[in-house]
Amino acid sequence: MTSLDPRTRFSLAGKTALITGGSRGLGLEMARGFAAAGANLIIASRKLEACEEAARAIAATGAKVMPLATHVGDWDSLEPLSEQAWAAFGGIDVLVNNAGMSPVAPSLVETSERLFDKVIGVNLKGPFRLSALIGSRMQEGRGGSIINISSTGAIRPQPHSAPYAAAKAGLNAITIAFAFAYGPSVRVNGIMAGPFETDIAKTWSDEEKQAYTTRSGSALRRLGRPDEIVAAALYFASDASSYTSGAIMRVDGGLP
Ligand SMILES: NC(=O)c1ccc[n+]([C@@H]2O[C@H](COP(=O)([O-])OP(=O)(O)OC[C@H]3O[C@@H](n4cnc5c(N)ncnc54)[C@H](OP(=O)(O)O)[C@@H]3O)[C@@H](O)[C@H]2O)c1
Repeated sequence: MTSLDPRTRFSLAGKTALITGGSRGLGLEMARGFAAAGANLIIASRKLEACEEAARAIAATGAKVMPLATHVGDWDSLEPLSEQAWAAFGGIDVLVNNAGMSPVAPSLVETSERLFDKVIGVNLKGPFRLSALIGSRMQEGRGGSIINISSTGAIRPQPHSAPYAAAKAGLNAITIAFAFAYGPSVRVNGIMAGPFETDIAKTWSDEEKQAYTTRSGSALRRLGRPDEIVAAALYFASDASSYTSGAIMRVDGGLP
């Protein structure tokens, strides 16, 4: 009989998680939360120093943490990344495609091809390639869990960030496709984040922030603290979600 003890169901003891964009924001909070649940980690983002700093802080709690520099929009660099990460710990049990960015163009017609390609590259192309590389190896081996960090923008597209919304909607689509491709041993799920107070939020005007804090703006009338993403990610990463795949959960303070 399966244990109902949450300390067992949500445990990541003996597991290894690769978190892209794990150096700050939501990714860093998930890294800290996974380490607290017993996981070893690979933290990957563009700036190696930032990954090293995060790795040092988390390793002080007892977890093994490997920092790696990567640009997730660079297709060819993702195979060496997954090889290196796989070899370092003898496998990966959890992949979190979290690295993302949402630069805003002055208008749709002023959106450059370069910006469009960059947004699609980081938010969709990279997660596709990494999920294929790591998911296929998980399927051949001991299985695993893939978590895609999407955005409520995917289902509530705003004109100022249309390419981002399209990329995240695409991420939702491949979440379901990969769940079918690599199931039953690999589970693939997504989290659509709402407005969280990370570095991304520093670019928002007070007016934009206030829009979320009114009665009609969101049920909880506030922005999310970065650590409030962790429980949902831990659910998908662990055996607690053993009968959940292809699901996309909103963690957004109750946007209308
Ligand atoms: N915060 C929100 O309100 C919100 C809302 C909806 C969805 N999301 C999604 O949540 C995820 C995390 O967002 P966040 O708010 O935590 O962002 P953040 O604070 O800006 O952190 C982004 C992380 O991704 C890394 N990163 C950025 N571009 C990268 C690239 N090309 N290759 C590898 N790593 C890269 C950054 O490190 P480096 O700079 O070192 O590369 C950093 O670790 C994103 O996918 C975002 O779209 C956030």
